[in-house]
Amino acid sequence: MKAVAVYGYSPCTGKTSVAKELAGFFYQQGHNTMLVDTDLAKGNLTEKLGLNSSPNIGEWAADILKRLDCLPYWDINYTWNEIEPYVQTFDGLPVLASNTIEDLAGSPLLLSCINVILHSLLKTPYDVLVFDNSVGVCDYTLNILLRMDKVLLIVEPFSFSLPNVEAFVRLLVDEGFSLDQFGLVLNRYPTHAEQDPLEISRALGISLYGVLPNCPDLCGKKGQASIFTMNRINRLTEEIGHLADKLWSED
Ligand SMILES: Nc1ncnc2c1ncn2[C@@H]1O[C@H](COP(=O)(O)OP(=O)(O)OP(=O)(O)O)[C@@H](O)[C@H]1O
Ligand SMILES: [Mg+2]
Repeated sequence: MKAVAVYGYSPCTGKTSVAKELAGFFYQQGHNTMLVDTDLAKGNLTEKLGLNSSPNIGEWAADILKRLDCLPYWDINYTWNEIEPYVQTFDGLPVLASNTIEDLAGSPLLLSCINVILHSLLKTPYDVLVFDNSVGVCDYTLNILLRMDKVLLIVEPFSFSLPNVEAFVRLLVDEGFSLDQFGLVLNRYPTHAEQDPLEISRALGISLYGVLPNCPDLCGKKGQASIFTMNRINRLTEEIGHLADKLWSED
């Protein structure tokens, strides 16, 4: 199984867009894939994919919190049959949709809850799990990222500041990450005024995994949710394909 987190240092860099397109690509290739919204405070995968608000990851978490009243987290495991009621699908792709339980992200038992979600999902027969995360260095997000095979750092050349991203990466290394756990993705080609992606990659010490083109249709029209990689070919889906191949071919 491959567990991949999509993450970033600043908001609105395209994390959710990359997560859904990547999961869609893997699914389209025939890999048993699940897309998971682990942005528990502000996740908007439900909205982006036009899913129902329920069921969702928060409802699963609420059930876990009840079990945590009687058992430690390491004794709680959900089988695939027990996880399934919390899962929706988008054109066949299984999705754990955005949390709707208020204050879940502030629960004192959240870390235990996330541990149960992760160890249960990592035992399922999925080939690929793609996690869409919030920005910021909060405990529960770090707990997720540390369990991943790869963490894709999405940066957007327009809002990019190398010293800020360097400081952010240093902070992650202090938290126990090694640089080879990360893959750098530039979302949108830099203009001449902006830095070369390879220079950024070298300066950060993080391998470049992809440079994605601008794709104005990506935001879609209201009520027309889509995952491009599931139904069309353009420059964006080709680049996402290269990114997916690189992830898939790694040990
Ligand atoms: N390559 C792209 N070309 C054009 N538009 C894009 C591209 N990537 C993302 N966008 C647009 O940028 C906006 C932000 O994208 P997205 O919601 O994926 O970012 P995010 O990092 O998940 O944001 P947040 O920090 O709020 O979770 C959306 O309107 C999306 O459609
Ligand atoms: Mg997002």
